[in-house]
Amino acid sequence: MYNASTKWWRDAVIYQVYLRSFADQNGDGIGDLAGLKSRLAYLKDLGVDGIWINPCYPSPQVDHGYDILNYEDIDTVYGDLDQFDGLVRDIHDLELKLLMDLVPNHCSVEHPWFRSALRSNRNSKERERFIFRDGRGPDGEQPPNDWRSAFGGPAWTRTLDGQWYLHMFDAAQPDFNWHNRNVQEFFDRVMRFWFDRGIDGFRVDVPTTIIKPINLEQHETSSMVGQDRPELHAIYRRWRSICESYSLRREVTLVGEFWDADIATSSANSREFHQAFYFDLLVQPWSAAAWRRAIDGALNKFDDESRIVWTLANHDVHRQVTRYGIVRRNSDSCHPIIAALRPRGQINVEQGERRARAALLGLLMLPGAQYIYQGEELGLPEVLDLPDDVRQDPGWKISDGSDPGRDGCRIPLPWSSEPPSFGFTCGCEEVASWLPQPEWFGKYAAYDQIKDAGSTLNLYRSALHARRSLRDPYREEKFSWGESPEDIVLYYRGSEFACVINFGDEVYSLPVGYRTVIASGHISSDELPGSTAVWLQRE
Ligand code: NOJ
Ligand code: CA
Repeated sequence: MYNASTKWWRDAVIYQVYLRSFADQNGDGIGDLAGLKSRLAYLKDLGVDGIWINPCYPSPQVDHGYDILNYEDIDTVYGDLDQFDGLVRDIHDLELKLLMDLVPNHCSVEHPWFRSALRSNRNSKERERFIFRDGRGPDGEQPPNDWRSAFGGPAWTRTLDGQWYLHMFDAAQPDFNWHNRNVQEFFDRVMRFWFDRGIDGFRVDVPTTIIKPINLEQHETSSMVGQDRPELHAIYRRWRSICESYSLRREVTLVGEFWDADIATSSANSREFHQAFYFDLLVQPWSAAAWRRAIDGALNKFDDESRIVWTLANHDVHRQVTRYGIVRRNSDSCHPIIAALRPRGQINVEQGERRARAALLGLLMLPGAQYIYQGEELGLPEVLDLPDDVRQDPGWKISDGSDPGRDGCRIPLPWSSEPPSFGFTCGCEEVASWLPQPEWFGKYAAYDQIKDAGSTLNLYRSALHARRSLRDPYREEKFSWGESPEDIVLYYRGSEFACVINFGDEVYSLPVGYRTVIASGHISSDELPGSTAVWLQRE
């Protein structure tokens, strides 16, 4: 009998599949569901508990799937619903979970609702589903307020009849009006549509921006968006109750993409979301003090550790090897948060690799769940030198390149060392992938790394398998800090397990009475070199 309290997600490791760039089975240079199916054994062997797929619904792909024109289908570029259903079965046969991406803040300008809103009158019910307003100034030529979109530029675009519509992201992504009942009921249906097809949960895209003040014109800055407002929580509870309606059959989950730590914790602590991403660790530089502060921040805020989703990378940020490999930072002209997510400067790849490997062990023993972005297990660096004419990220375009953009972490994965596609495109090797892979990508090929005992891929596999075998003994074990020098992060799970990360250059003498379960690099006897981490178990 199904036991509703399993909370399978509480310490799950979820692998994020950016489908366009994962594996291409039909030879058009774009990843697809069949490609993912062909690599499920790889993911099972890697040792993860489940998969989250970025949006693969029909979309004009302005923001690569985060601009949806039909929420209840699969984009033909990726496959179809039959293939999707087969994939769900295959994933479950392997005892893995599947999460989809729910995008409630905005759709595509090509969504039928938005198209009919454009054709309808100013005060029509069609326009009510979005956020249309008259402009300011004598002829309404200025936008209703001064809000900026997250990609830069104004958050308002003017329509042919002179009204403006709000978009917190690209102009091709109009924001829904979540005060509108049609919108609320529509998303109830969308959630059920995918839950009924068997998925195990949703990662929810920017859930904090869905509610805007009703009198937008009176609000001069976009700081009003993303505030912790009661209406938000009413909607979250509505979504949660849909999840609960499945509880007799299976346990489905909601994981919020919260960039605001306070809303993250309030939504998780009040059990509206099952879990919330805690991005504060991701934005920290390579510093023991910064890691201690960020980890403490989460543990103090969440009332239950299993609500925390830790991650060090995703499809929106520069890859870890590159972030941790920065030896000299450029003084960026962009917003500080963009500079933290996508920093620029001089990179030492070898240093970044060592640190990223150590960071993995630091991450995986934290209490809660962990998400791993595809390609991190290969130790891929960010591709920083894409020519301008192949770049696609709307954030890069709108900011005129002052934001380096997100294309460099979305390059199609190298599976083999064979150019031109490095095993990304099966069969037809002549086709160019949707973003070009650099020549050096072959060096990171997954199938070659499998054969190399010291590879980053094998570190991931060993760490995930070790975590799995230790999980039962330590899952209930409390986190506590150990005494350590400034450059060392030392934490315990119960009295039996410890994780030690050396953020400095000096060798550190490991605590006595423990055996090493796994190390991120070469360690001699009882000493931990710089930029290296270990898991220890009491002897
Ligand atoms: C967050 C997603 O992770 C990002 O890729 C997307 O561009 C924005 N939300 C808008 O949907
Ligand atoms: Ca394809």
